[in-house]
Parts: sequence; C-alpha cells; structure tokens
Amino acid sequence: MKRIIILLVVLCLCEGVRFGQLCNGNPTNRRRTSDSWGGGNYGARRGTRTHRGLDISCADGSVVYAPFDVTLHGRVIVYTDPKKAAINNGINLRGEGLCFKLFYVQPDKTSGSVARGERLGVMLNMQSVYPGITSHVHVQMCNKTDPTPYF
Ligand SMILES: *[C@@H]1O[C@H](CO)[C@@H](O)[C@H](O)[C@H]1NC(C)=O
Repeated sequence: MKRIIILLVVLCLCEGVRFGQLCNGNPTNRRRTSDSWGGGNYGARRGTRTHRGLDISCADGSVVYAPFDVTLHGRVIVYTDPKKAAINNGINLRGEGLCFKLFYVQPDKTSGSVARGERLGVMLNMQSVYPGITSHVHVQMCNKTDPTPYF
C-alpha cells in the first residue's frame, strides 16, 4: 500500500512539470499558431513530414531563458542546408526529468548548468530565412513525443 502511494506521488510530480518563460517579451509562452509557413503545433504538416515539436513565439534577437533548472548537453545541428545557416543552432537540455531540445537559439554555452530564468542564449534571425514567419523557439522532446502537456 505504502509503495503504491509513493509511486502515485512520483507520477503526479512528473505530470506537474511546466515550462517557465522561454523568451523575453513572451511571459506566457504564447505559441506560434498558423502563418504562411505552416502551423506551430505538434503534429502540423510540413509537406511530407510532420512537425515533431511545439513552437513558442520569440522575436529575433530576444534573450532566451532556462524554463527551469537545466543542464546543457551540447549544440543541436538543425539543418544541413547552407541557405539556413543563419538559424542552424540550438541546445540539448535536461531538467525536471525531461530531455529536450531548443532550436534556433545561439547558446551562450553548451555544457554545465543554468538556473531557471537565467539566460541560455539569443533567438536567431529567423526572418532572414523565413520572411514573415512568426519567429519562434522550437521545443522538441528527445524522444519526439508531444511537449504540449508541459506548457
Ligand atoms: C519521452 O520523454 C519524456 C520526457 O523526457 C518522458 O516523460 C516520456 O515518458 C518519454 N516517452 C516515451 C514513450 O519514451
């Protein structure tokens, strides 16, 4: 009985994880809805592919914050296409039991740790690659499951 109760408490703590503010200027983690380039929701169509992340609005050049206490696990290569080099950067992170990635961020550093609300880096110049898009940080779980419940 005691073991079952402990298990339930652990499950509930994990389900309660919520991302804190990711981007300066967007205190509510407002999402990219739909624009001429597509939708920002998990599962949105991308031609023959499916969007496996959630897009959080973030103006180019904004400071990006740690959504909770995190450790940093290297840079993300988002694209191989040299035409997209301006936004080809991101960070692998872990925290609150979650493993996730942030795309389109120029990281200040790619190892060590950053406390909740402290600076991770800067939002890259997405308008230079996708004119008119809702500039955004793409949040993707390492196992590509849906990050939406954590927002
Ligand atoms: C995917 O990763 C999340 C967070 O890291 C974890 O909570 C979840 O259980 C994982 N799901 C699967 C199917 O591996």
